[in-house]
Amino acid sequence: MKDFIAGLPKCELHLHIEGTLEPELKFDLARRNGIALPYTSVEEMRAAYSFDDLPSFLTVYYEGMQVLRTEPDFYDLAMAYLRKAAEQNVRYAEIFFDPQAHTSRGVPFDVVIRGLWRALIDADRQLGVRAQLIMCFLRDFQAEYAMATLLESLPYKEWIVGIGLDSDEKGNPPAKFAAVYERARQEGYLLTMHCDVDQDNSIEHIRQAIEEIGVDRIDHGVNILEDQRLVDLVLARGIGLTCCPISNGYVTDSMKAEGIRKLMELGVRVTINSDDPAYFNGYVGENLVALQEELQLTREELARLERNAFEITWLPRHLKDAYLAEVDAYLA
Ligand code: ADE
Ligand code: ZN
Repeated sequence: MKDFIAGLPKCELHLHIEGTLEPELKFDLARRNGIALPYTSVEEMRAAYSFDDLPSFLTVYYEGMQVLRTEPDFYDLAMAYLRKAAEQNVRYAEIFFDPQAHTSRGVPFDVVIRGLWRALIDADRQLGVRAQLIMCFLRDFQAEYAMATLLESLPYKEWIVGIGLDSDEKGNPPAKFAAVYERARQEGYLLTMHCDVDQDNSIEHIRQAIEEIGVDRIDHGVNILEDQRLVDLVLARGIGLTCCPISNGYVTDSMKAEGIRKLMELGVRVTINSDDPAYFNGYVGENLVALQEELQLTREELARLERNAFEITWLPRHLKDAYLAEVDAYLA
């Protein structure tokens, strides 16, 4: 099964590029930028990665990304991820980035996006991995800052396929960003947002995301299982869920594998992704292996998860069909 998973053509739809910053690269960038880190080795740095919920994870995540300063830093970050993706036979990725995590500490928006974009171009040419960018707003900052960031992104609209919402969900409901999402829709961006697992008011937040915001996709979202009306809405609108089993295991009580199984049985377009692989020790391949071992998934079920993913990508129909044909050919 591990060999089958390794060769399966894959699609990654829930990946924070800042969450792919491996300790080795963190040390390299710190040295390049003259930043002193409070660790003397990779092992010591990894040992300090202790988190058991979303806020404790986010503290480590934001601290780690402070070594990212220049356009080449963002290029190297994205290129390192895309090389890893190519090794795992990821054929296509939609990649989140958090501009406010950088602009809030003085790194200009254009430095971030130019570095990332240049890596996407090179990866397409050199590695045969296609990718698009999704700009996320940090929900624990004010909605006005999100709107300002949205406006700042407009000159780069051709480089950004959609918007997302991440960071700490507690006390930061989707409705807080209704005006930002409305403007983003008018500008032609596609819409997703995190509905993190087992949050306070998870059900109400998912309802707002679907009914008030009108999202095209939901990141995580397994808590729809607690409310049949939400399941019906997701099915009726064909909304895909980007689930992240290993991440779930770190920030909640489990991988939520049984929930993912249930979603598959219900016919929800559920997909398997890696979230922040440098922190959770698992890229998409390892996530598929972990889930397969837990649920004893068959080859057909694994292929279905990748079919779901290519189907809910933000790609034109002919490209979706080309990737779906790759999955079918592999399974056959
Ligand atoms: N930022 C990076 N990873 C995240 C996650 N899983 N949830 C919310 N915000 C995040
Ligand atoms: Zn996430």
